[in-house]
Amino acid sequence: MKMRPMARSYGRERLAGLLMTLVFCAPHANAFHENGVASCAGCHVMHEMEDGMPVVDVSGSLLRGLSPSDACLACHGSGDQAVFGYDPMNPPTEMGGGNFAFLREDQINDDPQNNAPSISGNHAGHSIVAPGYGLTADPDHTLSPGGTFPANELGCTSCHDPHGNSNFRMLNGAGPVQDGLFAFLYAAPEAEGLPVGLSGGGETTTSHTAYRSGMSWWCANCHGQYHDQVGRANFEHEFNEGLSGEEAGRYNSYNGDADPNGGSSLTSYLVQVPFEDPAGTIDKMSGPGSGARVMCLTCHRAHATSAPSSTRWDMRIPALGTDGVKSRSWPLPNPYANPSQRQLCLKCHDEHHGTQSSQSCFTCHQRHN
Ligand code: HEC
Ligand code: HEC
Ligand code: HEC
Ligand code: HEC
Ligand code: HEC
Ligand code: HEC
Ligand code: HEC
Repeated sequence: MKMRPMARSYGRERLAGLLMTLVFCAPHANAFHENGVASCAGCHVMHEMEDGMPVVDVSGSLLRGLSPSDACLACHGSGDQAVFGYDPMNPPTEMGGGNFAFLREDQINDDPQNNAPSISGNHAGHSIVAPGYGLTADPDHTLSPGGTFPANELGCTSCHDPHGNSNFRMLNGAGPVQDGLFAFLYAAPEAEGLPVGLSGGGETTTSHTAYRSGMSWWCANCHGQYHDQVGRANFEHEFNEGLSGEEAGRYNSYNGDADPNGGSSLTSYLVQVPFEDPAGTIDKMSGPGSGARVMCLTCHRAHATSAPSSTRWDMRIPALGTDGVKSRSWPLPNPYANPSQRQLCLKCHDEHHGTQSSQSCFTCHQRHN
């Protein structure tokens, strides 16, 4: 594995600037990323103080760990903020992003059809490169589908700013990322997440990421308008579309196949099928308001899940109760007790044609070349 050497041209001013930014951020309880000077050593190998300033080693041994992602996983590989659990059959509490633990799976395809191929854990989501943890580049995608981000450079800092910023989850905004390896065109999304690093409380109906705007465009930094470019994606879908009265109404009244019209707009929010809403809050249980949109994370999670393509529920099974049965991977939680519950696309679409119990929506709604 090769580590890009750090340029030696980071002047004293640049460092001082970084330090100042971090020092003047008000630290809050239990925070690591906002702790200021002391936290440099959490990720960097430090040298002696020079003129009252700690000096970061800018040689090859700069970071603690074999790569930037290894440095993050020193803390995020276990404990209260684990995004890479050890056992994919017993993943850490879901905080919203999904978990890289599922990259360790050998097989994640639960499609009941006899000719269904085996799909390896590499396709559980973003294959980050962290050699110290046995994580290597995706074997099948050399670039981000729909875009041009190189898969062999994909790591935590492709998406998150290691030095922190005021964006949701310290996500990279428009501008250069990874030392100029790539440039983002679109800003970080507007959203609010659950507090990370406190034991307990994972994602629930009354406690979940509040997506407000901009997520599809943010993903588009690396994926373009995936699914919405004719002939590009296997499955075509609107990219960043407002919910019409029809879809919003459906979302509110649908309460699972056992009670398809019994829902109420006051309590219809389903964490498995989120939408973007400028008025969204972490504890909001109500359905889509005006301005609500379908976006990438309606169907996907950002890190990884135990279904192909990091989807929030397995898109290839007719009944959610069969998730994990064929593949022996972790069954994603079925929000409705009913094991014959069909695809959660039904939260927005009232489609009677998809009622054959032997087929999922994706069986027909994909291109067959
Ligand atoms: C959460 C981990 C983390 C912390 C804390 C951290 N760094 Fe970094 N730093 C990194 C990573 C990772 C890189 C490599 C950049 C990349 O790959 O995107 C880096 C790169 C750098 C660079 C090279 C230039 C650049 O900006 O990319 C300098 C200089 C630097 N850090 C200084 C500091 C100083 C000073 C502090 C404390 C105020 C600090 N860092 C705190 C993770 C961290
Ligand atoms: C020394 C331990 C440590 C290291 C190393 C570390 N983190 Fe963290 N991280 C934490 C802790 C503790 C929290 C929760 C408190 C906080 O937000 O500071 C956290 C929180 C986060 C959050 C959520 C922030 C929020 O509040 O929304 C993100 C995103 C994150 N880390 C990314 C990274 C990335 C990317 C790296 C590597 C560049 C990294 N961390 C390295 C300890 C660490
Ligand atoms: C920094 C660039 C970058 C950003 C931002 C990014 N991706 Fe990716 N994505 C990639 C790369 C590179 C791959 C191919 C490597 C791989 O599959 O892990 C990929 C692969 C994927 C895959 C296929 C995974 C598989 O192996 O089957 C999905 C699904 C995906 N991305 C969805 C998203 C969504 C949704 C977002 C926004 C939340 C997003 N991506 C943001 C770079 C990015
Ligand atoms: C493809 C982009 C991408 C990559 C790569 C990525 N993240 Fe994230 N991460 C996100 C997004 C987007 C969110 C917000 C997800 C949500 O709430 O739906 C997030 C959320 C988080 C959180 C908040 C807790 C949670 O589970 O939601 C932490 C901590 C975090 N990431 C750390 C990391 C670390 C450490 C790495 C590398 C091992 C990493 N991320 C790699 C995009 C990424
Ligand atoms: C309505 C649901 C839905 C939405 C919205 C959605 N996707 Fe997907 N996506 C899917 C399905 C279904 C698949 C295929 C799943 C499978 O293979 O099991 C998929 C697959 C993918 C793949 C994997 C392609 C491959 O070749 O491995 C990528 C990349 C991807 N989506 C990116 C995105 C991005 C970026 C967005 C937002 C612009 C997005 N998706 C929005 C449902 C959706
Ligand atoms: C959060 C709500 C939401 C979810 C969940 C959702 N969709 Fe959609 N879907 C939409 C919206 C909005 C449109 C655009 C409708 C319009 O333009 O009138 C759409 C359009 C479509 C269309 C028509 C496409 C066209 O070009 O006419 C199909 C087919 C479709 N969706 C299938 C699916 C499938 C399959 C799933 C599950 C994998 C799904 N949708 C999940 C909101 C959703
Ligand atoms: C047996 C194959 C099949 C299955 C299974 C199936 N569909 Fe369809 N669907 C079709 C065909 C054919 C059309 C009409 C042609 C088109 O618009 O692509 C269609 C059209 C649609 C449309 C657009 C309707 C419109 O008014 O334009 C939506 C939305 C949709 N399907 C959603 C779903 C959902 C959600 C599921 C799963 C519950 C599903 N479909 C399952 C074959 C199927």
